[in-house]
Amino acid sequence: MLMDKAIEARGKAYAPYSKFSVGAALLLENNEIILGNNQENAAYPSGLCAERVAIFAASANHPQKKMLAMAVTCRHSEKPTLTPFASCGACRQVMLEYELVQENPIRTLFYGEDGEVWEVASTKLLL
Ligand code: THU
Repeated sequence: MLMDKAIEARGKAYAPYSKFSVGAALLLENNEIILGNNQENAAYPSGLCAERVAIFAASANHPQKKMLAMAVTCRHSEKPTLTPFASCGACRQVMLEYELVQENPIRTLFYGEDGEVWEVASTKLLL
């Protein structure tokens, strides 16, 4: 269910430069799901990854709510993405900080367009 939401978010990404769309769905402890997707910009570093769009939106709007799990999926518009990717270092760093603050792991699920789902029990295992 969470991955379906991430796929929905992926479809709304703004990724005209890389053509690599990423969607994230973040489950909070109150069962609310916060969506994010990558937002690119002609000034390359000004864009943001899907994971951080979702995590920062959750922290900005629901600062007291624990982040329980996040589903992340990617798709390139010109070549099939059959292997998941695991978040970039900056996203891992951000996820880890919220894990530490909330004293609760964030379970993460990674998926491409088809094939395997990778599951990671805590960001501590990624970083
Ligand atoms: N991207 C994400 O959204 N999440 C990641 O963890 C890695 C990369 C985005 C950033 C950029 O818009 C595009 O994918 C290509 O790097």
